[in-house]
Amino acid sequence: MSLPDRIKIVEVSPRDGLQNEKEFISTQIKIELIDRLSAAGFQNVESASFVSPKWVPQMADGADVMLGIQRQPGTIYSVLTPNMRGFEGALAAQSDEVVIFGSASEAFSQKNINCSIAESIARFEPVAAAAKAAGLRLRGSISCSLGCPYQGETPIESVVDVARRFLALGCDEIDVADTIGTGTAKRVSQVMNAVTKVVDPTRIAGHFHDTYGQSLANILAALEAGISIFHTSVAGLGGCPYAKGATGNVATEDVLYMMDGLGIETGIDLNEVVDIGMWISGHLGRKTASRAGNALAARKAG
Ligand code: HMG
Ligand code: MG
Repeated sequence: MSLPDRIKIVEVSPRDGLQNEKEFISTQIKIELIDRLSAAGFQNVESASFVSPKWVPQMADGADVMLGIQRQPGTIYSVLTPNMRGFEGALAAQSDEVVIFGSASEAFSQKNINCSIAESIARFEPVAAAAKAAGLRLRGSISCSLGCPYQGETPIESVVDVARRFLALGCDEIDVADTIGTGTAKRVSQVMNAVTKVVDPTRIAGHFHDTYGQSLANILAALEAGISIFHTSVAGLGGCPYAKGATGNVATEDVLYMMDGLGIETGIDLNEVVDIGMWISGHLGRKTASRAGNALAARKAG
């Protein structure tokens, strides 16, 4: 299959990137991160979670973050909403898109959201209906699509089954997520080729954590399977609190550099993203996890 001319990047660092940080990051820094990202051209920024602050304390200030940002016209600001309580918070905070997040693995579903896959779908039903009634976009994220920290390999049929259920709930977009980054290119092809049989490829996103360094190869495999939406995190920030050892999402800078080489448009200013990556890494007191970000920053420093 030929590669697309253009892809959409969903920048997830303000949510997936920061949710696992032990030290509380100030609301002001979160707002500055989101504002700088949307100014750099990202049309979709996953900005906060409306989840239990006991479960994920770092995301406790979601409402203040959402009400403090400077909205760029046309940019979609997404938030995670596991239940109606989360949805109500998201609606009051003027979110554009709500994300229901389930799993293709029973064991992970229990650890992450404290219920079975079937129970999670039942919980999502009113959230999905309310999102549609309020005219918000709805996205469904399928964790452990390429492996589970508790169960090992995930059967492809389980991923397809959750995708079908998310589609039935009215999801505008569905994320095939490699929560722990164990997937490799061949498996990504198989999973994407199976999911695209039930969901239109224009509505599927690849969400790859880079724990095993496979993300760029996996993105290429997904592109070849017709996928044109990818989730990335500046400086490779991130990790899931319920997936021990999993590192951040694939670094945005690395993906932008690769797309540039492939001649695929993203609408995002790589130079600006390199600066944002260096700034937020400096703020967190660590080196960027982006190889391209590091190399380009060194070149700039001359
Ligand atoms: P629960 O304990 O089963 O539910 O949690 P509950 O209804 O019994 O509520 C427990 C407490 O949480 C109560 O407070 C509720 O009021 C409160 P208490 O009475 O104990 O003081 N509560 C809430 N507070 C604020 N906002 C809410 C909310 N709901 C309940 N929306 C629940 C179920 C889903 C809430 C919980 O398990 C939870 O919040 N989990 C967090 C999951 C999470 O955020 N995980 C990380 C994000 S997912 C991810 O990273 C994967 C992804 O990136 C894709 C990938 O890589 O795979 C998306
Ligand atoms: Mg994730």
